[in-house]
Amino acid sequence: MADARADAILQRAVQRIHASDGKYDWVGIYLLRGDELILHNFIGKPTDHTRIPVGRGVCGTAVTEGRDINVPDVEALDNYLACSAETRSEIVVLIRDGERILGQIDIDSDTRKAFDQRDERELRKIADALGEVLADKLRHDQ
Ligand code: SME
Repeated sequence: MADARADAILQRAVQRIHASDGKYDWVGIYLLRGDELILHNFIGKPTDHTRIPVGRGVCGTAVTEGRDINVPDVEALDNYLACSAETRSEIVVLIRDGERILGQIDIDSDTRKAFDQRDERELRKIADALGEVLADKLRHDQ
């Protein structure tokens, strides 16, 4: 798949997710490049965290631990990189191709405990679809 087409799909995904629920205040997609997460596109307030080393913050920890992370209260976390002072909860859903982690969907909410199992399920479906798009993009890049 051509790069521009894959990029457009990733942007469209962020727009659709953001528009789907008022509690999704910041929505972004990070792509994993080596040992860093690089912000591909986002909707919400600008963030300083456009590059996040694997292992740092909620985003980097999700990669290290190879699992999605739902944080009901970010104020209770030590290993948290604040994007906005208003953020109260966050969810990170990994985008994979098989076992390989390619990136993640990251969503912040200004509401505490914003994300439930339904959010986890729906976002997983989107992440799985994006995994196929990204795997295709990577094959094209090589
Ligand atoms: N809070 C994230 C950083 C990304 S911002 O939320 C956009 C973290 O702790 O990794």
